[in-house]
Amino acid sequence: MLSTLCLLFFQTQTSGPPEHKISNIFRPLATPARSELNYGMLVLAITAVIFVVVATLIITTMIRFRRRATDGTQEPPQVYGSNRIEAAWTVIPILVVFVLAGVTARVVWGIADASPPKSTLHVEVTGHQYWWEVRYPYYGVVTANEIHVPVSHNHQDATYFDLKSTDVIHSLWVPELGGKTDLIPDRTNHMWLDPTEAGIYRGDCTEFCGVQHANMLLEVVAQEPADFQKWIAEQQKPFVKPAQISAGQRDFALCAGCHAIQGTAFKGKLGPDLTHLASRRLIASGVLPNTPQNMKGWLANPQETKEGCLMPNMKLKEPMLSDLTAFMETLK
Ligand code: CUA
Repeated sequence: MLSTLCLLFFQTQTSGPPEHKISNIFRPLATPARSELNYGMLVLAITAVIFVVVATLIITTMIRFRRRATDGTQEPPQVYGSNRIEAAWTVIPILVVFVLAGVTARVVWGIADASPPKSTLHVEVTGHQYWWEVRYPYYGVVTANEIHVPVSHNHQDATYFDLKSTDVIHSLWVPELGGKTDLIPDRTNHMWLDPTEAGIYRGDCTEFCGVQHANMLLEVVAQEPADFQKWIAEQQKPFVKPAQISAGQRDFALCAGCHAIQGTAFKGKLGPDLTHLASRRLIASGVLPNTPQNMKGWLANPQETKEGCLMPNMKLKEPMLSDLTAFMETLK
C-alpha cells in the first residue's frame, strides 16, 4: 500500500517548461485515465483494509500478550495446527489475488482495444531516442512531439494510436488522458484516448530508454473537431517555395541527412520532419519553448541542452547560425 501511495504522489510531480501546469492524475479527462484512476483507488482500498486488519492484530497482540511482572519463568503454552486459521490465511489471499487479477485484465484490455470502429482517426506514434514521430496516415501528415487530436464527444470519435519503436523500448503516458503503453521494436501496440475537454496535455516517456529519457516529452493538443481539421489542413501544405532561395535554405543541406521538409529535395529520415517546425509550441522534444533564441541555442549545440541526444554538435558559425535560425522560423 505504501508503494501505491508513493507512486500516486511521485507520478504527479512531473516537471517541464514553466507554462505547464503540473499533470494531475486525480483529474482524469479521458476514459482510459478514468479507468486507471478507479483501478488504482480499488487497489488502494483493498490494500488499505488489509493494512488496517494486520496492523490492528499486531498491535493488539503486542499489548494484550506482552510480558508482565506476574509472569513466571516458564514458557507459555505453544499453539499450532489450527485448521481454521490456516484455511483463512490461504483462502482470503487467493480471493484477493483473483479479484485483483480479474480487474487488472479488464482494465488493460479496455485500454488497449485494438479493434476500433472503422471510421476512427488513427495516429502512428514511433518512439526514437529521444523524440516522438507522429504520423496521420489518412491525412498524409507527419509531425513530431506534438500530437493533435479532436475532442471526443462520444466513444465513436476516440483517437486510436499505433505505437512503434525504432530502437529501444519507450512508453507513452499522458497523465490526464491515460496510457503508459510501451512502444516496442518489431511490434505494434495499441491504445486510444478520448479527451473530453479541449486543452494541452503534457506527456512523458515512462520507460528508461537512455541518458535523455527524462527529456523525451510530448504534448497532446486536444482541439474541437473543426479546429483539428484546420490544423490538419495547415499541416498538409508542403513547403512554399520563396521567390528567392535564402542563405538559410541553402545551408539546410547540412541538416538534410537527417531531416525532411516536404515539397523540397530535403528528405532525411533519421530526425523529426521539419516541414511545419515553426508551428510547434516546443522544440527539442518538449524541452524548450519554440522561440528564435532557443532555436539558435539548440542549433549552436544540441549537446548542451540534451547531452547524449543523437543530434550532433555541427559547430555552426555565424552567419550560418543566424541564417539557419531565420529559415527555421519560416517553416510555419
Ligand atoms: Cu523514451 Cu524513455
